[in-house]
Amino acid sequence: MEVFTTIAGVREFVRSHRRGGRTIGFVPTMGALHEGHLSLMRRARDECDLVVISIFVNPTQFGPGEDFGRYPRDLEGDCRKAQAVGVDAVFAPSAAEMYPDGFATFVGQEGHTVSCLEGRFRPGHFRGVLTVCLKLFNIVQPDRAYFGQKDYQQALVVRRMVRDLDVAMELVVCPTVREPDGLAMSSRNAYLSQSERAQALSLSRGLRAAQEALRAGERDPRKLEEIVRSQIEGAGPCVIDYVVVADAETLAPVEVVDRRCVAAVAVRIGGTRLIDNCLLER
Ligand code: PAJ
Repeated sequence: MEVFTTIAGVREFVRSHRRGGRTIGFVPTMGALHEGHLSLMRRARDECDLVVISIFVNPTQFGPGEDFGRYPRDLEGDCRKAQAVGVDAVFAPSAAEMYPDGFATFVGQEGHTVSCLEGRFRPGHFRGVLTVCLKLFNIVQPDRAYFGQKDYQQALVVRRMVRDLDVAMELVVCPTVREPDGLAMSSRNAYLSQSERAQALSLSRGLRAAQEALRAGERDPRKLEEIVRSQIEGAGPCVIDYVVVADAETLAPVEVVDRRCVAAVAVRIGGTRLIDNCLLER
C-alpha cells in the first residue's frame, strides 16, 4: 500500500494504474477509521480493481466552535487498518496542500435538500464538504466513490453535485454499520463517557421504535417523530437539534408516510454531537 501526501503523487499513481481499463474505487474519509469506514473499503475492494482512500480532516466543513481541533487523528493506525482490508493507496494531504494560499473557489448548492437538517444547524458545512469532495474527485478521478448512509443528507447532496456538475463517476451508498447494541459507528463516539454512550443508544432505539410503529400502521410523520423524540428525551439531558421524518429522496416535509421516507436525528449529548437515521419503508 502506498501513502501519498501530495496531489501530484496520488495523481501519478492513479494515472499509472489506470491502464487497460482498470476501475478505480474511492473512499473519502476524515480518518479515525472504524468498521463503518472499513465496510466502504471492502465494498470498493469487491467492486473495483484499485482502491484509493483519502484521510483528510477538512477544515472548511467545520464551523467556528466545532471540533476541528480535537477531531481524532491517527494516521499510522488508519494506514494499518486500510492495508488490512486491501486498500492500494492512501491520500493524506496537509491542509496547505489542499488549500494553498490564494485558494478562493467553493462549491455551493441551493435548495431545501442542502439547507435543511445539517445545513440549518451547521451553516457552511456542506459548502466545505462539496468543495473538498469535488477536489478529491478531480484528483483521484474514480469510477465509483463510496459513501455511508450514516451521513444520509451528505450522500444526497454529493449525489446532486455529481449529477449537476457532470462528474463522470458513480456514487455508491452503503448501509450504516452499528455496534452490536445499535449505536451507529462514528469517529465522534470516542468523545463519549460511559454514561453518555449509554444515553446515545436512545438515538438508534428511537429510530427502531419509529420503524416498528410504521410497520404497525402509524403513517403520521409527526407521531413518528414524537416516538423518536420521547425515547431520546427519556434517556437523559441532551439538546435535540432535530428529529425529522421527510421524503427520502429530497428531504421535503411530508404530511403522511405514503412513500419512501427517512427519519433523521441530530442530538448533542454533553459536548458531543451525534447524528443517525433510518429509512422508513412500508
Ligand atoms: P467521515 O465522517 O470520516 O466519513 C467517511 C465516510 O464513511 C462517509 O461516507 C460516511 O458516511 C461513512 N461512514 C461513517 N460512519 C459510518 C458507519 N457507521 N457506517 C457506514 N458508513 C459510515 O463524511 C466524511 O468523513 C466527510 O464529510 C468527507 C465525505 C470525507 C468529506 O470531508
